[in-house]
Amino acid sequence: MFNKRTRIKELLKTEPTGQEVTVMGWVRTFRNNQFIALNDGSTNNNLQVVLELGKFEDELLKRITTSSSLKVTGNLVSSLGKGQKMDLNVTTIEILGDCDAEKYPLQPKRHSLEFLREIAHLRFRTNTFGSVFRIRHSLAFAIHKFFNDKGFVYMHTPIVTGSDAEGAGEMFRVSTLPFDNPPRNEDGSINFKEDFFGRPTNLTVSGQLEGELAATAFGEIYTFGPTFRAENSNTPRHLAEFWMIEPEMAFYDLEDNMNLAEEFIKYIIMYAMDNNREDLEFLAQRLADEEKQLPQDKRSEMGLIEKLEFVINNNFERITYTEAIDILRESNHNKKKKFQFPITGWGMDLQSEHERYLVEKHFRKPVILSNYPKEIKAFYMRQNDDGKTVAAMDILAPGIGEIVGGSQREERQDKLEQRMKEMHIPLQDMWWYLDTRRYGTVPHAGFGLGFERMVQFVTGMNNIRDVIAFPRTPGNAEF
Ligand code: 4AD
Ligand code: MG
Repeated sequence: MFNKRTRIKELLKTEPTGQEVTVMGWVRTFRNNQFIALNDGSTNNNLQVVLELGKFEDELLKRITTSSSLKVTGNLVSSLGKGQKMDLNVTTIEILGDCDAEKYPLQPKRHSLEFLREIAHLRFRTNTFGSVFRIRHSLAFAIHKFFNDKGFVYMHTPIVTGSDAEGAGEMFRVSTLPFDNPPRNEDGSINFKEDFFGRPTNLTVSGQLEGELAATAFGEIYTFGPTFRAENSNTPRHLAEFWMIEPEMAFYDLEDNMNLAEEFIKYIIMYAMDNNREDLEFLAQRLADEEKQLPQDKRSEMGLIEKLEFVINNNFERITYTEAIDILRESNHNKKKKFQFPITGWGMDLQSEHERYLVEKHFRKPVILSNYPKEIKAFYMRQNDDGKTVAAMDILAPGIGEIVGGSQREERQDKLEQRMKEMHIPLQDMWWYLDTRRYGTVPHAGFGLGFERMVQFVTGMNNIRDVIAFPRTPGNAEF
């Protein structure tokens, strides 16, 4: 058997008593022809591998370069050096893959995140990305655990969809028709009957509508999958391909929905705190170092870990859209005309600068905003009795802005159809959606959590491109 190895993370927890172990990994540094810092991706902490001087041939030593890969067997002993608890005294060493140090783009020094994005295929081998992606993994696992423990059913909703009713954003067309000469109807329009699916299709912007179909049978479901938006937003918070978690629950109203979302966010943060302490501490230090270069007033009040503890231990602030508009209108920030988009009054859509003002300056904690004007929200949201607002809720997080969007759904067939007509949504295309309102309709609600924004919040990474392995953004789909 080739892969009989021990993970370095596990080794570092054991007592070194001379036991024989085999490790495999990549060389981070090699000093004095004697000390290898070996990393295997299980932790940022390297294992110090010690070669006895004179025991190994020069030919072999020359091939031990940064990022060459090794299989090493030896004995684990207490370290005489100060930097580490244990050494691996080598008996045999095998080079699995050479790495030309002249050509290898990662040096054992600090690289900018922008540079690392250009070599995203190698950036996993840095401490920062090691920590980010181990935490990303943990959060994904915690999400499944949270819902599984509560008895929710995981639904895989389609990626390719014929419905374009969500209205959440621009969509990517899916087609096998030839670009240069597509089949046409008599009026010159493209004949999608000849396309692969016999109709126009797109990449999904959300699994919600299909999620609702399942929730009205299982009670409580969730989706966790990739979603796509062809909006031309080049910001540190937007991706064209991102992952979304969308729970959908029968017999929930807006308040139940908010309670679940708050519990959920706290749970997954707690899971990372309990299971990724070392990586969080590394990222907290990274952030603190980065912020030292900023002027005092631009630095965060809390360190990363303090911030996460604060979120776990405090209730989210809950206010209505109407209250938010009043706060924003009366703010000094608005009066001094510091918003790029001034507060014009009730009915306006909130920009991210407004959302961030509310969470970062006014409340200094996560905020759940509810009951938005119906004009700025999707057709499926439940209409409130005031005739003006819908039972929507967004959760805003410090440093991120909107992290969750959700609502109670309109379960009353007549109200739903009337709203769809007002919004020019073709009812006949949505027959399957409307069927749930025809056949045993129930009050229900759900929300969508942007996974990358959540990973950003937990890791403190500023740019969303640094929390997904291979970001897709306008003008960029490398790797
Ligand atoms: O607010 P959104 O558009 O809501 C929906 O799609 C609903 N169908 C969700 C539901 O009720 N089931 O998106 C939900 C969340 C946002 O709050 C944000 O966190 C994230 O998805 N999001 C994005 N994340 C990264 N890049 C983008 N372009 C995003 N657009 C939305
Ligand atoms: Mg939204």
